[in-house]
Amino acid sequence: MSTHRDAVVRRLTAPDIFRRKGTEPLVALTAYTAPIAALLDDACDLLLVGDSTGMVAHGLTSTVPVTLDMMILHGQAVMRGSRRSMVVIDMPFGSYEGAVEEAYRSAVRLMKETGAQGIKVESGPAIPATIRYLVDRGIPVMGHVGLRPQAVNIDGGFKAKGRTEAERELVLADARAVSDAGAFAIVVEGVAEGLARDITRAVSAPTLGIGASAGCDGQILVTDDMLGMFKWTPKFVRRYADLGAEITRAAAAYSEDVRTRRFPGPAETYFNPKPAAPAETASEGGSL
Ligand code: KIV
Repeated sequence: MSTHRDAVVRRLTAPDIFRRKGTEPLVALTAYTAPIAALLDDACDLLLVGDSTGMVAHGLTSTVPVTLDMMILHGQAVMRGSRRSMVVIDMPFGSYEGAVEEAYRSAVRLMKETGAQGIKVESGPAIPATIRYLVDRGIPVMGHVGLRPQAVNIDGGFKAKGRTEAERELVLADARAVSDAGAFAIVVEGVAEGLARDITRAVSAPTLGIGASAGCDGQILVTDDMLGMFKWTPKFVRRYADLGAEITRAAAAYSEDVRTRRFPGPAETYFNPKPAAPAETASEGGSL
């Protein structure tokens, strides 16, 4: 039997995402595994294999220790699980901020070894030149401005950006430079509504907001946040499910059933086949 997921589906591409500027809002979520990617795929335009996996899936306190090899494994899984959404993979800290040639080699590894359609870099003064270098060599790049989680050690924490006029100007100039360098989309994280709207008006690439108001061209959230996997979520997250509580409840119920020998029951048990009934003979059965 075929389902609608068996039909030939064309993946969205960087130009498809770029053309959505100012039209229908773009929908993006993070994904790190094949089964979750499969569940999110139909609802999204873009799946980001975020280096937030370091904190979400690996229990790290920041994204800084995440490696290229980790991103490749998660990227491969998300590509296997999805068919329609554009898949973009984060370049992890230390894989792109040095020489442009090194950034190119890292991006090529991510794209060759996963099949993803693009990569994302967090911006900063040196990064627009790197974006231009990568785009000129056939690599679709998504930028990331405002709060940049990989800058946690410079910033002294995860702090919203653009609170002073000088900082507003810096973030706006950064977004302009990223867009002018050829980024096909820009994540805008942790900025107030006015700045998000100014950025969105100023750049030709569509903006994806996270903690950046409805003033962006689309939205992105960390999937585990919006599914309620953690006790605490930031103010900008809306919880669409309470999976953390549901998993805790299910684990407790399973534990209780095992301890009281209510699991497994007959419905979950394999039994030996019943012995075959003896064959009837003509003399016993009467006539043929
Ligand atoms: O790594 C990530 O999940 C991200 C999102 C916060 C956009 O960069």
